[in-house]
Parts: sequence; C-alpha cells; structure tokens
Amino acid sequence: MQDRKTEFDLARDFQNIWHPCTQHKDFETIKPLLVERAEGVYLYDREGKGYLDAISSWWVNLLGHNHPRLNAALQNQLEKMAHVMFAGITHQPAIDLASSLVEVSPEKLSKVFFSDNGSTSVEVALKMSLQYWQQSGESNKTRFIYLKGGYHGETIGALSVCGLDIFRDKFEKVLLNNLGVEGPDCFRCPYGLNRDSCQAECFEPMEKALEENEIAGVVIEPLVQGAAGMKIYPPVYLKKLKAACDSYSAHLIFDEVAVAFGRTGSLFVSKELNISPTFLCLSKGITSGYLPLAATLTTDEIYSAFYDDFSNWKLFIHSHSYSANPLACSVANETLAILNENNFIRKLQPKINLIGQMGKRIYEESKWCGEFRQQGMIAALELVKNKNNKEPFLLESRVGYKIYLEGLKRGIFLRPLGDVIYFIPPLVISEEEIKRMMTIAQECIAAVLD
Ligand SMILES: Cc1ncc(COP(=O)(O)O)c(C=O)c1O
Repeated sequence: MQDRKTEFDLARDFQNIWHPCTQHKDFETIKPLLVERAEGVYLYDREGKGYLDAISSWWVNLLGHNHPRLNAALQNQLEKMAHVMFAGITHQPAIDLASSLVEVSPEKLSKVFFSDNGSTSVEVALKMSLQYWQQSGESNKTRFIYLKGGYHGETIGALSVCGLDIFRDKFEKVLLNNLGVEGPDCFRCPYGLNRDSCQAECFEPMEKALEENEIAGVVIEPLVQGAAGMKIYPPVYLKKLKAACDSYSAHLIFDEVAVAFGRTGSLFVSKELNISPTFLCLSKGITSGYLPLAATLTTDEIYSAFYDDFSNWKLFIHSHSYSANPLACSVANETLAILNENNFIRKLQPKINLIGQMGKRIYEESKWCGEFRQQGMIAALELVKNKNNKEPFLLESRVGYKIYLEGLKRGIFLRPLGDVIYFIPPLVISEEEIKRMMTIAQECIAAVLD
C-alpha cells in the first residue's frame, strides 16, 4: 500500500516530469517506482521494499549503490572543488584519470578527451574522425559504417550511426548519410552456423561496403550489441574488422560505453582481444554509476593532425560545460582503483559460471526460451512464441513489459528489451543474489507465459 505522501509525490511526478523512453499513458495503470534509497544491489521504495537492480540502473552501476569508498572519494573531492571549466584549466582528478585510462587501455591509445555521456563520447569520435580526414587531405571521407542492430546513443549524430529502427524511424529524414550494413545475428544465423563453427561469414557485407565506398570510419559495439537485446557475437568478427579497417584506411571506433570496466569479464574488450581501435568510447561504468562522465580515447596519429600553430585553425572545437567534472573524475579514479585491486575482475569467474549454469537451466526448462546467451557478467534469455522455429511474440503482446511488472511484484527490477530478459547486475552481486535474481526471473516468465 502506498501512503498519502507517496501518492501525492507520484501525482506531482505525473504532472511535471517527462521521463526518458517512457509511454506516459502506461502510468495511468502502473506508476513509476519511487526509489528512496539504494544499497548494494538493491533499490528501496518508501515502504522499505527492496528491488534487486538486475540491470545496474541502465548498465551504469558497477560496484553497487552507496559504496563506502566511492562515497568517500566523492566527499573528499567535494571539500576541495565541485566543478571548474576544462578549457585553459586542468586539475588533478582529470590528470590522474587520463593517465590511468591510457595505462590500462590498448597500447596505441594515448590521448583522452573528456565529455559527459555515452552519446557524446561517440559524437566526439565521429567529429574527430571527420576533421582528421579533412585536415589530412582526404575530405571525401565523410561517411561512417554502422551495423544494423548497433546502438550508440540518441543525439542526432550518434543516432546517425544507430542501426535500430525504433530509435531512427521518426528522425530518418534528418540523419546524416551513413551506411548501415547487416551484422552478426547469431541467434538466427542466416548462414545456419553455430558459434563453434562460425568464422564470421557474415562479415561479407562489411567487407563489400568498405571496398565500394569512401569511408571515414566504422562504429561498433564490440562483442555485445546491448540495446539490440544483448546480442552476442564472436571475436573473429572484430579481428576481421580490424584487418579490413587497416587495409581500407578507415578509422575503427570501438564503442565500449556499455561493455567496458569488467562487464564482459575483462577491463576492456579491445585490450582483451588485443585490438587497438582508432577511437575508444567510454562512459556508464566509468564512475560506477555515480556521476555523468565520458571519455574518448585516441592515438597520437589522430592528435597530431590537430596540433599546429593556432592561426592554422586545426584545433578541435567541441566543448561541454561539464567536461571532466572533478567530482566525476574522482569517483572514476576510485572505481578504477577498486577494479585493479586484488584480482577484482578475475574473481568474477565463479559468478560468471553460476549465471551460465542457471541461465542454461532456465533455457532447458522453459518452452518459451529460444536462447540463453552470455558474455561474462552480461546474460540474456530471448523469449519466443515457438522454440522450434524461433518465431517471436507479436510486439503488441508486450511480453517483456508484463514480465517487468511481475518482477516489480516479486522484488526485482528488470527492464526487458522487447522480449529479451537480460541481466547486467552490479559486479559486486553475491552468488546468493545471483540465485535469487535468476530464480525470480524464471518465476516471472512462467507467471506471464505458462
Ligand atoms: C553502446 C552504447 N553507446 C552509447 C550509449 C549512449 O550512452 P548515454 O545514454 O550515456 O548517452 C549507450 C547507452 O545505452 C550504449 O549502450
């Protein structure tokens, strides 16, 4: 039962707030969850009911809510300085963070450009790439390739390299003229291959697009296409892409906004696979979900094309008021310190195994589960109407949404992507909490579909 104050505040929310990615008419029947506080992997409402945050608050929270060390880092920095502009001024938290990022990222990445959200980290890479080609005598390189199913944010520039129709549809007419190509679809592989025999035969359209067009760069989410439904594809695709980008002189832009900082079982996918992209985009987990911050890393070669006498007007003009916010940088420094201590990432392995075992069991037991897939601490169950032919549910049946509502009743915050029930919990989740998360998810699926 909601008390009068909660009812009153929710009415005020309804009156004044426009939430992201939300059909507000849904609130006529189900109100948003009013979260009062959060601790570890749990969100708590006003009545004290806990909800397991199975998706890390839109994939940002790495180390759990209300983390004592992150709180302390934030408070220490707050005593000194909350914010200062970042042109003509620098500060210790940003200097420390840039050198740590350079140290732990792929070898050739040596320069860090700070901004404040994931979309912007991609915008920065796109703009740097375009300007690089203009200043290097190749001004016809103005288009980017993106994968169908790829997601890189929703500002107009980032949306122009987004391969998901639901985000693009309404804005198609004003988007930049980039090139979307078919990418991997391992669940419904058109080549009829399974993951073991696959040699990324689906790379063919990418190769062709690079061969036939003047391309500035290729933007990709390495290993996991998050917003597409945590679609997972094998590293061989990325190896082929790196070789092709090198041979056609196109920049390789790795968008690790969602997958970096331990999510896949390594700090960075690029580093783990020994692939050095031209640009590496980071955000979300960088501050463990405390404050908005993003970084675009690039090479000396790119940086050098902008380095000249002022009068030659080659500087990179891109500025945000909150670039490299010192509070955010301090929390990011502490986040990196924790991830780099005591084999933090290696110690995730038993949790990764447990998620795998439980996910496979749900797949086997549920006639609605077409696939269980997993990359490190990221996992997904794709629900289908017919397990034999993988026929999906109709969009209007809103299966995922109904499972989300069941989850709320049972104390778990899921936010399915269509009919994909996915898990990307804070890395600090315990094995007991993993069991609870997966068991309740299975119950929710059964409650809605059986
Ligand atoms: C891969 C990827 N890139 C970019 C973004 C955009 O980040 P933001 O929402 O912070 O703008 C997201 C957000 O989900 C993402 O998953």
